[in-house]
Amino acid sequence: MNGTTHSKTTIWLLSFVVFFGLGSIVLGTVWPENIPAQPIRFNHAVHVSNGLTCEDCHAGALTREKATLPQLDTCLTCHSEAVTTKPEEEKVRVFARAGREIQWVQLTRVPEHVYFSHRRHTALGGLKCAECHGPMESYTEPPRRAFRRMKMNDCIECHKQRKASYDCNDCHR
Ligand code: HEC
Ligand code: HEC
Ligand code: HEC
Ligand code: HEC
Ligand code: HEC
Repeated sequence: MNGTTHSKTTIWLLSFVVFFGLGSIVLGTVWPENIPAQPIRFNHAVHVSNGLTCEDCHAGALTREKATLPQLDTCLTCHSEAVTTKPEEEKVRVFARAGREIQWVQLTRVPEHVYFSHRRHTALGGLKCAECHGPMESYTEPPRRAFRRMKMNDCIECHKQRKASYDCNDCHR
């Protein structure tokens, strides 16, 4: 060990610190987790505890392929007048006055070449929403990422467990 080795080590360490330090600052501004993912900080817990069912807002969840995200009209059935003093609630009427739909961001998704049907899994398969989506009814703000990423392995692992078919052609039609 001599002085040069030591200073080389120090330079290495310093560049690591700078690299990762800067890296996380740069990433922090573009990384999806730090972007407010949804146009309104929607609160599932408040609505479910007021007696709304999942299908009131996700109309296709038991009957169609797509569960669907709610349209502004659904919100306006209750929010055309204020029911709270929360600024987040006021945003519903701001969208309405501007004549704009609320562009909710869909987090859980499969690519076009994959066939997935909610009806098949919920109404026919008897699966609860929570198996794939987690405890949505307890969320007081929108999740930042999908509860499960729903990669091919997620699908196939459960299909094996439940003795459902996992033929390539079932999911890739
Ligand atoms: C009053 C309307 C409303 C009700 C009731 C409601 N949701 Fe939602 N749901 C929304 C809105 C709005 C979003 C998008 C914003 C967010 O993620 O919070 C959403 C998002 C979701 C997502 C995210 C989809 C994705 O992209 O990954 C899931 C899953 C979901 N809801 C499941 C449920 C379940 C399960 C229930 C019943 C326990 C339920 N919701 C009840 C309005 C509702
Ligand atoms: C069937 C009636 C009903 C529908 C439909 C409904 N809400 Fe609500 N919402 C309520 C009630 C009731 C409250 C107040 C709950 C409380 O404070 O006790 C509320 C509260 C809120 C709040 C304040 C939340 C908080 O953090 O306390 C927001 C924001 C909101 N709603 C947005 C929405 C949006 C967006 C939609 C459409 C996707 C929607 N609501 C659909 C009844 C409804
Ligand atoms: C077996 C797993 C599974 C179950 C059970 C399930 N989902 Fe999903 N959900 C998914 C997948 C996969 C997607 C992405 C589908 C796509 O991209 O078309 C999704 C997407 C969604 C979305 C985004 C919007 C859309 O149109 O699909 C909502 C909302 C949603 N689910 C709600 C629900 C609700 C409510 C239930 C219970 C009634 C439920 N899901 C049960 C796997 C599931
Ligand atoms: C938590 C468990 C679970 C997950 C996760 C899951 N499935 Fe399934 N899936 C089932 C069950 C159970 C059935 C059988 C339903 C019935 O009884 O009709 C099924 C049936 C199906 C069928 C019909 C198969 C046939 O026999 O025609 C398709 C297609 C399918 N799933 C696609 C998917 C895709 C794509 C994913 C992932 C994005 C997925 N599933 C994720 C449990 C799951
Ligand atoms: C239960 C549903 C399911 C079954 C069965 C299944 N897949 Fe998939 N597959 C998916 C999903 C969901 C994706 C998209 C997500 C991902 O890339 O993991 C996918 C993605 C793929 C891709 C990647 C395409 C890309 O864009 O990179 C290929 C290739 C593929 N599957 C081939 C197969 C083959 C071959 C079989 C039969 C041995 C099979 N899959 C069986 C659900 C399934």
